Amino acid sequence: MDVKLDFLNQRRKIIQEGGGEKRIEAQHEKGKLTARERLEKFLDEGSFVEIGTFVQTDLEDASNLDIKYPGEGVVTGYGTVNGRQVYVFSQDFTVAGGSLGEKHADKICHVLDLAAKNGCPVIGFNDSGGARIQEGVMALDGYGRIFFRNTIYSGVVPQISVILGPSAGGAVYSPALTDFIFMVDNISRMFITGPQVIKAVTGEEVSPETLGGAKTHNEISGVAHFRSPNEEDCFEKIRTLISFLPSNNLDDPPVVEPAEPTLAQEDLLTIIPDDPNKAYDVKEIIKRVVDRSDFFEVHQHYAKNAVVGFARVHGQPVGIIANQPKVLAGCLDIDCSDKIARFVRFCDAFNIPLITFVDVPGYLPGVNQEYGGIIRHGAKVLYAYSEATVPKISIILRKAYGGAYIAMSCRALGADVALAWPSAEIAVMGPEGAINIVNRREIEAADNPQEKRKELIADYRKKYANPYVAASRGWIDDVIDPRDTRRHIIQALYENRNKQEDRPRKKHGNIPT
Ligand code: HXC
Repeated sequence: MDVKLDFLNQRRKIIQEGGGEKRIEAQHEKGKLTARERLEKFLDEGSFVEIGTFVQTDLEDASNLDIKYPGEGVVTGYGTVNGRQVYVFSQDFTVAGGSLGEKHADKICHVLDLAAKNGCPVIGFNDSGGARIQEGVMALDGYGRIFFRNTIYSGVVPQISVILGPSAGGAVYSPALTDFIFMVDNISRMFITGPQVIKAVTGEEVSPETLGGAKTHNEISGVAHFRSPNEEDCFEKIRTLISFLPSNNLDDPPVVEPAEPTLAQEDLLTIIPDDPNKAYDVKEIIKRVVDRSDFFEVHQHYAKNAVVGFARVHGQPVGIIANQPKVLAGCLDIDCSDKIARFVRFCDAFNIPLITFVDVPGYLPGVNQEYGGIIRHGAKVLYAYSEATVPKISIILRKAYGGAYIAMSCRALGADVALAWPSAEIAVMGPEGAINIVNRREIEAADNPQEKRKELIADYRKKYANPYVAASRGWIDDVIDPRDTRRHIIQALYENRNKQEDRPRKKHGNIPT
């Protein structure tokens, strides 16, 4: 037995050393951790259990310790995050650049299957040169099998991708099919075609970081949801994200001990300026309503005219969606429609109630927006809210005009509880626009058109731009004192805690894209 044990230990050691000392050193020199170090640092201490340690493509002689691709370039298994079971895979760049061959793909597919069967989140640490060139079409088949699983398990278990090295070519589509993408400055690189190919084809010159780094995908493309300065910060963010999520679509999100906001409720009376055309930061309102004033923002750097993220209200995880008057006056545009719709659909898939704070003057006007397809992108928001059957609570803070009023979780789209602050203005369009259309002749004929305009605007605001017309129809359940917002949300969450709502049976819908 001793000899056999000794052989086992030698074999395991070779595999655990991956590409060897030199390549590990090179990995560290690039400011990157190794595949195993990542799992050690990310998971609860000592919780990692490896699966498929000895998987190998080219085993001809089992007594041979000459292993060409230790671990096939990927470490797979499970462990815990704050005590909750998760599945993981971590590509090992020190082994053939973490490139993906048939067996490498088998290992990833196996943990994806296990995560779905056991109802646990799965986190993939991507650091790979892409398809293993030596394995040709076997590698392509491997990617196909991964994409298939990413898709069929979407909405079954939360899937998280962490980009900690190259992720190029078709390989980017596995992360793109998952729920959240995390990236780290100066380490992560995501692109379909790299700088050299782009230069050859279009003549454009661009650095890898500018083309596909964390900043680019967080701010410009919206491909990534989180940006970190280093791997440790990134791991902490993933752990925080998981703390809000149920382990699967049949579980409820984890409720924790309730805690009061740390910021004063009284401030809610003064955050919105008296002048309806002045901006403010909607996050100041969100923070005063949620437990510990703690708001975990998703897509923080992208389409900032909307804000989405997770928080807790009386211990219950919730998804928060808000217009941000500070950016583009909080208008709905192409990018923020995508951002909102995707977030709403994630929360709905995983039983997380939605709380929507509304202050929206409308859809963003512009030729670019029309040419870019604001019609089909804006439609996603309507689709996502209408489709969602989790508790939906909306609070109109100030403007709720036209189609954007409908889109932002109004009663007609199924809001279970619709509240408004006294400052709410719910109407088909803003006073200025409405008066220009309806009273154009009257203004032109007036002795003092400027004065007449002002007078008509004030009159319109009084008559129509308030919460009481909507409340009189029953589309707003109550007009509330802003300081009572948290109490009303807690009540609404409790009231709807057992909400059941069905939709017609169908194979699947066809969300506009
Ligand atoms: C096999 C690979 C590899 C690959 C890297 N290596 N990529 N081996 N297949 N795809 C190996 C290298 O030979 C080297 O081995 C080691 O990994 C480290 O690579 P370096 O080039 O030394 O590292 P670095 O300078 O950091 O550059 C990393 C890199 C570069 C940018 C990723 O290696 C690169 O461009 N690789 C090729 C990328 C690519 O074109 N992949 C195929 C894309 S097509 P040694 O033994 O020297 O350490 C694709 C299709 C997917 O992925 C389709 C899905 C639908």
